[in-house]
Amino acid sequence: MNIVLLGAPGAGKGTQASMIEEKFSLVHISTGDIFRANIKGGTPIGKIAKGYIDAGKLVPDEVTCKIVENRLGEEDVKGGFMLDGFPRNIFQAEQLDKFAKIDVCVNIDVDIDLLMDRICGRRVCACGESYHVSTLNGETKCKKCGGTLYRRDDDNPETVQKRLDTYFKETAPVADYYKKQGKLFTVKSGKGSPKEVFAVIAEKLKEY
Ligand code: AP5
Ligand code: MG
Repeated sequence: MNIVLLGAPGAGKGTQASMIEEKFSLVHISTGDIFRANIKGGTPIGKIAKGYIDAGKLVPDEVTCKIVENRLGEEDVKGGFMLDGFPRNIFQAEQLDKFAKIDVCVNIDVDIDLLMDRICGRRVCACGESYHVSTLNGETKCKKCGGTLYRRDDDNPETVQKRLDTYFKETAPVADYYKKQGKLFTVKSGKGSPKEVFAVIAEKLKEY
């Protein structure tokens, strides 16, 4: 089973990916995580990506598509994968169809007014886990691996607003792309907890 996870910044893509990965043994591929690892490592890709990420813009398609195509050519994804943060515009969706077969696009739909608080209150771990300060009770270590939690550089109100603008202009139309292919499954997150949202997604994924 090959999945695309779609949703606005802060919709809960990473949170759900972590739960889906555990239950369905799919390889989790987050383009955002790949870029952040490259920035940390000071690689040429990281140097290109940083300016775009800090500005809340998309990293150019030619860079992003090549990374995903190469990653999907690796052996470990043969048993199924989950793309988190890709495709992020129609061009990327069309490119993806040329090098992979997608079974379902899970679109996490969240009220916009919840997103700013969710993102600005998020704390992440290098292992990929993310938390919200409201549930951490002052804890500064990751429950999964013990790593130190930190705030992402792009999780400040000004950049978040730019990321949201980019999402509505470029990424939201991707839902329609998969709808036309009969592959769209939208889950209304509402005020549902991560576990409640996951229960709805897991029920759907059992069909594949
Ligand atoms: P990326 O890393 O993909 O960021 P994003 O899309 O902005 O999404 P986030 O990671 O911020 O949110 P999320 O949906 O994963 O939410 P999370 O689960 O953490 O991309 C970063 C940048 O990289 C982009 O801006 C772009 O520049 C570049 N990039 C990446 N992919 C690209 C591409 N394909 N093309 C070009 N450029 C690309 O949850 C958020 C918070 O909410 C957490 O605190 C969490 O605990 C909490 N939460 C989650 N679910 C719930 C719930 N149900 N109830 C209450 N709280 C919840
Ligand atoms: Mg994420």
